[in-house]
Order: sequence, then structure tokens, then C-alpha cells
Amino acid sequence: MNFNLSEEQLMIQQAARDFAQNELLPGVIERDRDQKFPAEQVKKMGEMGLLGMMVDPKYGGAGMDSVSYVLAMEEIAKIDASAAVVMSVNNSLVCAGLEKFASEEQKVKYLTPLASGEVIGAFALSEPEAGSDATSQKTTAEDKGDYYLLNGIKNWITNGGTASYYIVIAQTDPEKKHKGINAFIVERNWEGFEVGTKEDKLGIRGSDTHSLIFNNVKVPKENRIGEDGFGFNFAMAVLNGGRIGIASQALGIASGAYELALKYAKTRKAFKTEIINHQAIAFKLADMATQITAARMLCFKAACEKDEGKDISESGAMAKLYASQVAMDTTIEAVQIHGGYGYVKEYHVERLMRDAKITQIYEGTSEIQKIVISRSISK
Ligand code: CAA
Ligand code: FAD
Repeated sequence: MNFNLSEEQLMIQQAARDFAQNELLPGVIERDRDQKFPAEQVKKMGEMGLLGMMVDPKYGGAGMDSVSYVLAMEEIAKIDASAAVVMSVNNSLVCAGLEKFASEEQKVKYLTPLASGEVIGAFALSEPEAGSDATSQKTTAEDKGDYYLLNGIKNWITNGGTASYYIVIAQTDPEKKHKGINAFIVERNWEGFEVGTKEDKLGIRGSDTHSLIFNNVKVPKENRIGEDGFGFNFAMAVLNGGRIGIASQALGIASGAYELALKYAKTRKAFKTEIINHQAIAFKLADMATQITAARMLCFKAACEKDEGKDISESGAMAKLYASQVAMDTTIEAVQIHGGYGYVKEYHVERLMRDAKITQIYEGTSEIQKIVISRSISK
């Protein structure tokens, strides 16, 4: 692992930083208040190549490495964690899954518009009764010969109301348990498919999280991803990479809160001196800086291993487990350092604190990451 960033990686980091400052910062408080999806900004992110960062340019992607992805995600999430989750889902759940496992026809038809940011995608695994216990799929995909009949409900789906294409996981043969699960590409305008209620959330309020309802949706056989029964392994493989995206989102939330807290501590005076001169405050900042650096290293390690084609189940889970804890701890302390000002919206840290919590829940809760890590180390 090389700790020196290349010129190209530094350029991507700077471009994402400038974009976040100039395009995401204005209006971020209002979008959080009004639960407004950052549609214009996401469109621009697509034009910059941020929505298909690691995809081969022949399928509309930017052809970058995974460390560049971590760097860009951190910069976007520092300012707007909602835009960051749109980016993470499109890059690492939807595009990465299609690039690695879809057929050539599927790549041309679906991956190209998704990677170029012309449209965005969603990944639908979770159900009302199948969250952590993801093999308990109740959504069914009945094999009807040249098509599957899809029935059921998915919930908590990020980009649910704005996506054009959805990767949907469903049970075809319950007797085969997880080996009877398939993954499909579903188009938004197909008959029988309906986007359900939008969730009113604690954080990442600019992202749109919906339930999805499938009522006798006919899915052509050519829209199944991979061999019959590959759907669960597909979902797990995709989530390993997805966890690097969420770890980087958590890292960005933490470093955004830290930068605000450091700046504030250097200017706010109490007892005739800047509060950074009180050791209690300085030590909080020292802990934040140390933990953020450690989280960043875990993200880089997982990203490097991904690009080397290694098994990243353990490193991806470690990065997400640790970075999400750092996001929670750092944002709580950033509010504390701001005192009363931290408790109101205009100082940003209260939003970052609310945004941080989700990183310990989605793409596998912290408890699930510990299951993944402990199974891996006990092998
Ligand atoms: N990588 C690769 N394969 C894995 C894997 C991993 N990390 N974890 C499990 N598998 C494979 C196993 O090898 C096994 O395959 P084989 O039978 O072919 O060997 C298969 O999956 C079943 O594994 P288990 O018997 O271990 O299954 P389990 O029922 O004990 O559960 C689990 C495993 C790790 C808990 C899994 O269910 C899980 O990851 N749950 C969390 C689900 C999740 O992360 N959901 C996220 C939804 S998307 C999202 O949230 C997006 C967003 O917010 C933005
Ligand atoms: P449960 O699985 O019911 O867990 C409840 C509690 O029990 C948790 O603390 C959990 O860690 C614990 N627990 C469960 N099993 C175990 C165990 N074996 N050992 C120890 N503890 C355990 N899903 C998608 O498919 N696509 C998306 O785009 C998506 N986006 C989301 C966006 C948001 C805002 C939210 C809130 C969720 C999203 N999800 C998405 C769903 C998310 O992945 C699930 O919420 C998550 O996996 C947890 O599932 P659950 O909510 O059913 O909780």
C-alpha cells in the first residue's frame, strides 16, 4: 500500500472539494430541513464522472481507482452526506455490481447510462422482515419460462423515488434457501411496479428513501443477473465493495465535523482565551484527528485490496465498522465543542451528528460487520 497520493488522485480530491464547497454547501441546510433531493447537484456530479467513478470508460465510467473514490466520497460527505449516499449507492452497489456480473447486453443497455450519470440506480435487498437476516427474502420471482413474475415489498430503498433502474433481489426457489435467490434489473416504468411511501428520517434527509411495491411485474429472463440462484452471492459480493463507500461517507462526516470544530475552537474565546487553549478541548480534537486518520487508513487499505482483486469482505467490514463509530464519536464531540451554537442548524455540526447515525445501520449494521469480521478471522 502506497501512502503517497498520485497527482491524479490529488486532482480528483481537489475537484470534489471545490464542487462540495461551491455546489453542495449552498442550500444544504434547507435541503435537510425540507427533505429535498439534490437533483441538480447530482446531475452535475454525473457530468463530473462522480457517479460511475470506477467503471470502464467504454461503459460510460471515469475509469478511476478505488482510492480516488474514497477521496472523492470523503470530500462530498464532509459537506452533504445525502449527496454522498446517492453517489455511494450508484457507484458501488449498482454500477460495480453490473460491471462485474452483468451480461454484455445488460452493460450496454443499463450500465452505460448509469455510469455516465444520465440516470441513477437503486439496490433493493431489504424488506420489512428481511434486513440483517437478508436470506429471509419474502419477495418472490416465479419462473414463468421466458419471464419471471415479481411480487412483494422492499423497504428503505435509497434513490427509491428518483432511480430509473433498480437491482431487485427476490426468492425464486425457497427450497434451495439462499441458493434459490435471484437478482434482477427492473425498469421503473414497468407495469405493476410502484414506488411507495417516502421515509421521514433523522438524518441524510436530502436522500430519498422509499418502499417499493411489486405486483405481478413481468421481468424478462434476460434481466436476471448471472446464473439461476446467484442472487444472494451477488448481493453479498456487491455489499463488500459498498461498505467501502459507506465507510468513506462516515469518514467524510467525521472529518467535516472535525474541521468545523477545529476552526471554531481556534476563534471562540472563553475565560479570556481561545477554547483550544483549554486542554479538555484540545484533547478532544487530538482524539478526533487520530481516529479520523486511522479510519482513513482502513478505507485506503480496503480500497487498495479491492483494486488488487483481493477478498475485501474483512477489510471492507472493518473500515465500515470503525469509520462509522468515529463518525458518531466525532460529531457528538464537535457539537460539544460548539457549545450552544452546536445545537442550532446554521453551524452544521448538529446535521452531521444526525447524518452520522445511519452509517452504523445501513449496508449491514455494526453488529453484522462484527459477524462478518469474526467469521473471517476464525476461518
Ligand atoms: N462476502 C461474500 N459472500 C458472503 C459474505 C460476504 N461478506 N457474507 C456471506 N456470504 C455468502 C456465504 O459465503 C454463503 O454463500 P455460499 O453458501 O455460496 O458459501 C452465503 O452468503 C450465505 O452466507 P451465511 O450462511 O453466512 O448467511 P447468514 O444468513 O448467516 O447471513 C450475513 C450472512 C453476513 C448476516 C448477511 O445476511 C448480511 O450481510 N446481512 C446484512 C445485509 C445488508 O448488509 N444489507 C444492506 C442492504 S443495502 C443498503 O443498506 C444500502 C444503503 O443503505 C445505502
Ligand atoms: P434488523 O435486522 O431488524 O436489526 C435490528 C437490530 O438487531 C440491529 O441492531 C441489528 O444489528 C441487530 N441484529 C440483527 N441480527 C443480529 C445478529 N444476528 N446478531 C446481533 N445483532 C443482530 N436496504 C437496501 O436494500 N437498499 C437500500 O438502498 C437501503 N437504504 C437504506 C437507507 C436508510 C436511510 C435506512 C434506514 C436503511 C436502508 N436500507 C437499505 C436498509 C438497511 O440495510 C437495513 O435497515 C439494515 O440492514 C438493518 O436491517 P433492519 O432495519 O431490518 O434491522
